[in-house]
Parts: sequence; C-alpha cells; structure tokens
Amino acid sequence: MKRVAILISGGGSNMVALLNSMTGDHPARPVLVASNDPGAGGLVKAAAAGVATAAVDHRPYGKDRASFEAELVQHLEAAAPDILCLAGFMRVLTPDFVRRFEGRMLNIHPSLLPKYPGLHTHQRAIDAGDAEAGCTVHEVTAVLDDGPLLGQARVPVLPGDTADSLAARVLVQEHRLYPAVLRRYAAGDRRPVLL
Ligand code: GAR
Repeated sequence: MKRVAILISGGGSNMVALLNSMTGDHPARPVLVASNDPGAGGLVKAAAAGVATAAVDHRPYGKDRASFEAELVQHLEAAAPDILCLAGFMRVLTPDFVRRFEGRMLNIHPSLLPKYPGLHTHQRAIDAGDAEAGCTVHEVTAVLDDGPLLGQARVPVLPGDTADSLAARVLVQEHRLYPAVLRRYAAGDRRPVLL
C-alpha cells in the first residue's frame, strides 16, 4: 500500500476528491494533509475524514522559503509518504524541496499545459479566444508548472464564459482527473490519463 501526503492552501476540493478515492482496492492510502495556511478550509475537511493534518504558516518566514520548507519537510518525513500530491498548493517550491520529492510528487494545474503556467489561467484562456480549456496533472520538476504529463482533461470554453464559470467547469473535471491519475500512478503506471 502506497502512502500519500497531500499539500493544500485553500478549500481543498481536489484533496477531498483524492481522499474519497483512496478506499477499497485502491493501491494507496492518505497519511497526511498539510497546509501553508493554518486557516485553510481543507484542513478541517481532512480532519473530519480522519486523516492526520499539519499546518506550517509560511508568513512568519517571509522570503525565507528554505526555512519554511524545512519545517514542512519535518512533518512530511514523519509521515513517510511514497507519493506527495500538490492540490491547490500555492507556494513556489525551492529546487532543494523538489529534488527531495522528485519522481514521487504530482501537481494539478488548471490549464492545458504547456499553455498558461502560473496564475489566472482561465482568464488567459478566455482572452486568447481558446475554444478549449482544461486541467493537467504532471510530475513536479524544478521548472514551475512543468514536468512529465500524467493526465489531462478538456472542457469547452462557452460563449459568455467568465473566469469563474470556466473555473467551475474545469474544477468538475479536476475532481475526476486527479483521482484517476493517482490510482494509476500509485500502481506504478505512468501512462497519461486523457479525459
Ligand atoms: C484548483 O483549481 C487547482 O487546479 C488550482 O487551485 C485550485 C484549488 O482548489 N491550482 C493551482 O492554481 C496551482 N497553481 P481546491 O483547493 O478546491 O482543490
């Protein structure tokens, strides 16, 4: 059984989808949900699901990412994850952190990468006049929102879409895609899931 830790910053709807999926014959189980924001709504949901939680507030560390990450790593190493899932985790990671978890760290990003790394992905897709948008799960490498593709789901961009309406349509697919990728990845299969 693979051990999965999940990093969040907010409401954690993707995290909840991952937790809900890890039952029965699933090859993985959740061991920790951690956040850089002690007020993240997802922490309450994880605790309610019976999963151990940790919060390491990044704010007291200011620009000192390495010290913030050192404390986060203590919690992570104590949980001994085989796989680390970033799920709406909004901190940029240092190369040292990435190296430590490289080859076992996944991220979900709300665009069809390589399009629109970074923020404001939905508005950028609308502004570009794209007919399609979507989400991507990839392995995390030292380059932001880059790394081997593990899955992608597509949705149409509809006339009159706002960033919010498009985000909501994409999020429904995120909740399908990420669990599907994690199940496959935890079984040792790196072939991309295309929805
Ligand atoms: C999701 O849409 C996720 O793809 C995005 O943040 C949201 C988190 O929602 N991630 C990023 O933008 C990463 N750069 P959630 O907390 O409800 O899962």
